[in-house]
Amino acid sequence: MKKSPPVFTQETQALHYRVDNAMTDPVTTPIYQNSAFSADSPYFYTRKSNPNSVELETAMSLIENCETVISTTTGMSAITLSLSLLNVGDHLVINKDIYGCSLNLFRRLAVQLHLQLTILDLSHQQGRDQIPDDVSMMFFETPTNPFLKTIPIKEIADSVHRKNANALVVVDNSWATPLFQKPLQFGADISVMSATKFISGHSDVMGGLVSTDNKQLAKKIADTRFYSGAILDPHSAWLMRRSLQTFPLRMREHVTTTRRLYEYLQTEAVVAKTWFPHIDGTQLQQYGGILFFEFSESAKINYKEFAESLQLFATGTAMACVTSMVAQPWSGSHASLSEKDKETMGISKNLVRLCFGLESAVDLINDLASSFKLFNKNPAEAKPELIQQV
Ligand SMILES: Cc1ncc(COP(=O)(O)O)c(C=O)c1O
Repeated sequence: MKKSPPVFTQETQALHYRVDNAMTDPVTTPIYQNSAFSADSPYFYTRKSNPNSVELETAMSLIENCETVISTTTGMSAITLSLSLLNVGDHLVINKDIYGCSLNLFRRLAVQLHLQLTILDLSHQQGRDQIPDDVSMMFFETPTNPFLKTIPIKEIADSVHRKNANALVVVDNSWATPLFQKPLQFGADISVMSATKFISGHSDVMGGLVSTDNKQLAKKIADTRFYSGAILDPHSAWLMRRSLQTFPLRMREHVTTTRRLYEYLQTEAVVAKTWFPHIDGTQLQQYGGILFFEFSESAKINYKEFAESLQLFATGTAMACVTSMVAQPWSGSHASLSEKDKETMGISKNLVRLCFGLESAVDLINDLASSFKLFNKNPAEAKPELIQQV
């Protein structure tokens, strides 16, 4: 028998009214700002997945040339998801040069899960020779924060997997980005990154990405994201996906600017050292965006005064923006570490981080040069020393 449709109140009709999406035919995907999907939708619940996060992840997997990308709320939640694969009593091995919050997270987790935590200097063969036989997870950044040291992914992944076939190698690829370095192709099991940096590129959205070619790991990580609620929300995923469209263009500009600024910094008398990563053309294809330099001791430069004298560089720990930033790792990215930890890492108060935006390289050089001039009391004394990792 045919049911005669009830006449609903206008308020109920207003609640149910939807514009016909099929007729709108937008050129870009709109924001699916909804938590729930109907039962016949391929989506289920936004805490599990959403068209905006899926579009971002699929586009990213094309750039990274990998099976699965999982988007998360921040870079730190991407790292936390990879750490959720550890079990009580496991042996976590990390590199000594590492982002301050990551080190603090590893240390906390080590206490909670009774992990054995070993810190090695993986930038030297001597450190790589000390990888323990019972390693469960190896975690490192390359290039590192700070000092932009490059760590050989393939050599370490081979060594770790030889010692324990089930061990996981996790690479934090935030600074190279998947455009210039694809850790999974060199044997890493998981590549994580802070998408807040170069993928966003505009300092207006936070996010993280976890990539893997291993289907079982992908399922475990996606399930943990679902259960823990660490998925990127639709609006942030939409913003991130929008930024991803200009990501390769912006990176190419960063490469050119960074090279020019690196060459310039070596000519400055008050600059004692400048760091730039070793681009081998195999693991690391290109590099751009962030440089470190150290003031010469004799120049006795106060970082705060220097930073305030710059016109184009905003102060702060953010990076990979359209406008440039200056930061002091001592009081910024590594502020949460003890003085002893910072000294072990070689972080002094003279160390400065520059993140270049999309300004012209000439303007950035002029801005820095006029600030350096204020402090260069005795130009004949200090000589710059070129540091390029080999
Ligand atoms: C190398 C590295 N990994 C991870 C993170 C954390 O990323 P997020 O701030 O998006 O959580 C940072 C932040 O600076 C970083 O430098």
